[in-house]
Amino acid sequence: MSTSPVAIVTGGAQGIGAAICIELLKKGYRVCVADIEDLKAQEFVKEQQRIFGEENAATIRCDVTEESEYANLFEQILKKFGRVDVLVNNAGIVEETNPRKCLEVNLLGPLFGCHAALKYMGKNKGGKGGMVINTSSVVAFSPSPKMPAYTASKHGIIALTRCFGHPFHYDKDGIIFAALCPYLVDTNILNSVTKTLDPTMDYSKVPDKMSPEFVAKGALKLLEDKINGSTLVVLRSGYHYIEFKDEFRKLIV
Ligand SMILES: NC(=O)c1ccc[n+]([C@@H]2O[C@H](COP(=O)([O-])OP(=O)(O)OC[C@H]3O[C@@H](n4cnc5c(N)ncnc54)[C@H](O)[C@@H]3O)[C@@H](O)[C@H]2O)c1
Repeated sequence: MSTSPVAIVTGGAQGIGAAICIELLKKGYRVCVADIEDLKAQEFVKEQQRIFGEENAATIRCDVTEESEYANLFEQILKKFGRVDVLVNNAGIVEETNPRKCLEVNLLGPLFGCHAALKYMGKNKGGKGGMVINTSSVVAFSPSPKMPAYTASKHGIIALTRCFGHPFHYDKDGIIFAALCPYLVDTNILNSVTKTLDPTMDYSKVPDKMSPEFVAKGALKLLEDKINGSTLVVLRSGYHYIEFKDEFRKLIV
């Protein structure tokens, strides 16, 4: 069996997740797309298998709102690939008319994902450690007043990243947690922003959107830099870490 590293990317069938899969494949990772869009995921994986080799890409359906589906995902990937080194908790939606669903997909899903990573990758549980990248958004630092549920979910992702990215966990499990926080990116999610928020404004036509590829390179930067608990904002101007003040850290027990 190959010894190359393995990454799972939720919401990897399209958009930012698909771009992260491609960058990881280029770096020699084997990749598993975990999504609910079965057909899109299968088509995307077929194309990547053609380019990078059949043995290097796979897809397993996973609805991130179902904790049991994470267990199935990790168990199947461990059987198929023999290891998991990276989890990218990337699946997300904009759904202000159904805030419960928005929080379930964007926040509860990644929380289940972080717990699954600790269970299946953690050194404490017989794993080898690794890295978890959580896709947040620039709205975690510059709130969007039209999207309170989405903004809260993305603030929550920063909280998860900083909690799990604390030495309390790292010292036991050897997993680094970091958050990727992009500004507007040219993906399908922008159509749902237009639909659910403001039909008078077409967000897909905003001029200064970034490409998914540019954002995916931010994920690679996080993998290279390996700064536990870090939050990387991706703007057109580049990649910027936003730090948590150390004097506050001392207050937390
Ligand atoms: N596009 C942007 O402007 C932007 C900016 C900042 C952050 N983000 C975040 O980036 C991430 C990726 O979004 P995108 O822009 O690529 O959007 P996208 O709509 O192109 O992709 C989202 C993917 O998530 C999948 N998904 C949705 N619900 C799921 C579920 N319950 N279980 C598993 N998969 C599910 C979808 O099927 C889709 O493949 C999201 O977390 C989003 O909030 C996007």
